[in-house]
Parts: sequence; structure tokens; C-alpha cells
Amino acid sequence: MSQHVTNPIDAPATATMKNVAPIGPGLNDTRRQAASVHVPGRLTSVDLMNTLAAWAQDLARTLLAEALPRRWAHVQGVAARARSLAPAIGPDTGLLEAAAWLHDIGYLPELAETGLHGLDGARYLCDVQHAEPLLCRLVAHHSCAVIEAEERGLVHVLNREFAPPPRPLADALTFCDMTTSPDGEHVPVHNRLAEIHDRYGSGHLVSRSIRRATPLILEAVGQVNARAARP
Ligand SMILES: [Fe+2]
Repeated sequence: MSQHVTNPIDAPATATMKNVAPIGPGLNDTRRQAASVHVPGRLTSVDLMNTLAAWAQDLARTLLAEALPRRWAHVQGVAARARSLAPAIGPDTGLLEAAAWLHDIGYLPELAETGLHGLDGARYLCDVQHAEPLLCRLVAHHSCAVIEAEERGLVHVLNREFAPPPRPLADALTFCDMTTSPDGEHVPVHNRLAEIHDRYGSGHLVSRSIRRATPLILEAVGQVNARAARP
């Protein structure tokens, strides 16, 4: 399986090779070939973030639309929630939207190495796509992933590879994910949490993690709602 989506941050300096980023059996080999990130000087930061969001949308479509259509529906809804936060988030909205598009790519079987989907997706973005470091950190830690990392014995791995992102952006991504159903509809956070428990069952590691993370998730949603309500 190959895909042909160019990371806008790499594109000006790497015309051909970076357009082909293999995933699948060769992933581990490819991860060792991480290259430097080249930031073009001619784009403003807002241009770059909007370009980043468009690139992320294309990459998410390539990875998820056919392989995991329900995840694709979900991330479309999460990205729409991210765009809706533009008045509250400002220039970082493009980065938030990019993270929304890509936050669940770690569910792809070809990318799943640890089972912690945020970490697996972030590794792919970092090592194969050479993506913006803050984007990788947002994906790695999305929706209080550190709790599930503890449950899986991966918390030191997660924090060593990807530092926790700034709280306002992390809260915004949690808000977008936790108020969007698996089919991409806008839902209250309590409905979303209940649906996760129903889907996995009460004894599952994911249910246990979400139960422990619930106070943090509710706090994040409350913070973002309060921020969005400010004149
Ligand atoms: Fe999600």
C-alpha cells in the first residue's frame, strides 16, 4: 500500500521522493530514514497552517476513506468541529484542523505497532511524513491518550517520543473528538462517552481508560465551551 500525498512542509525542497511514502511491511525500515524538515520562507504562518490542513485532509482521505470508512466519517466531523472553533482558536485553527483530520490514522492496521493509536499515528506522521512536530504531538496525545498509555504500560514511551502539546490546543482537539460521534455527527460529550463504553464493553482497556480520563475530558470540553462563548 502506498500513498501519494505531499507534506507541504517538505514539498518545496523535496520534489519527488517524499511524494511516495510507503506504509505496511516496510514501515519500520522507513521509520529509520527520517529526514530533516524544510520550512519554506515565502509562506506566512497562516498560509502554512491552511496548507497543512489541506494536506492533512488529503492524507486522511487517502489512508482512511476506503480502508476505514466509518473512521473517515468520524474525522470529517471532527475536522468540521475544529473549523467551527476558528473564532476562539485564531491562527492555530489550521493546525488544529490538521490534527483533527489525522488523529485516528493510527487505527489503520498497517500503522498499528503499539496498539496506542495516537502514538502509532504520530510515529507515522513524524517518521514517514516528516510532519510538523506540534502536529505529531497533538495526534500522539489526543483526547487524554496519556491515560490509555498508562493502562498499556506505554506512558514513558509516549512522553519520551512526543512531549505533551500546549494545553489550549490539546483541550480543543479533545473537545472536537469527544463531541463527534463515530459517524461524524455533533453529539453531547456524555453521549459520546456512553457510546464508547457501549462499543467496547465495561471491562475493556479502552473503557477503563475513558472512565479514568472522563474528568479531564469534561474539563477540556468545559474550557473550550467557555472560551468559545467569550465575546
Ligand atoms: Fe477520534
